[in-house]
Amino acid sequence: MTVRGQFPFTVIGHRGCAGVEPENTLRGVHCAIDMGCPMVEIDVHVLDGRLIVIHDGKVDRTTDGRGVLEKFKLEELRKLDAGLGEKIPYLEEVLEMCAGKCQLNIELKGKGSAEAVVEVLESWGPAYVVISSFEWDWLETVRKLDEVLDISVLVSKAYLLDAAILQAKKLRAVSVNPSLKILSEAFCDKVHAQDMLVYTYTVKEQKHLKHAQACGADGCFADFPEAVLKELR
Ligand code: G3P
Ligand code: MG
Repeated sequence: MTVRGQFPFTVIGHRGCAGVEPENTLRGVHCAIDMGCPMVEIDVHVLDGRLIVIHDGKVDRTTDGRGVLEKFKLEELRKLDAGLGEKIPYLEEVLEMCAGKCQLNIELKGKGSAEAVVEVLESWGPAYVVISSFEWDWLETVRKLDEVLDISVLVSKAYLLDAAILQAKKLRAVSVNPSLKILSEAFCDKVHAQDMLVYTYTVKEQKHLKHAQACGADGCFADFPEAVLKELR
């Protein structure tokens, strides 16, 4: 038996709501929740032992600062403008915002983030989260530290698709999340046959959504979630 068709198509706010608000900010997460996303995705790195919500290892692209994360003290980093006066959030602030409203997909981007996320979640108490990464050994660390946390395996290269399914099975993952560029019906069928879901990234245009649906994906990461939700209605 496969899981396909048991759930509605899941629209996931990508980097908060990256097409509409500054990415990976509280403003963006709030926006995705407001639009009705059942899940919101953010990226995390570790700095001075704290989990911070940012995609790149440098601040240049998304803030008014310059340089790699490691050159910053936490308090300096928090003074940067991540867009429209937003600060780079702490993971805990996003957990707080999502509590009782949506599932939070925490993507591990920085070294040490696997251990740090598990530690934060242990002290946080019940939280509706899923942990994802392209770094599969980091997901293994998560699974070793926590037997029950939901895990998603990210994959961006076609030659790694089958390995991603094997890895996901080994980790008892809930989903395998491939780039739209390598998504196919055959891949979705293989994942579904293993009772896992497929969430593809990143839907930015209508044709992307059509492709995701035609292949049989169970959901997508969207920069403009409202447009996708509207299209699905
Ligand atoms: O989790 C899907 C997507 O976020 C992966 O790519 O680069 O946007 O983190 P990226
Ligand atoms: Mg991401």
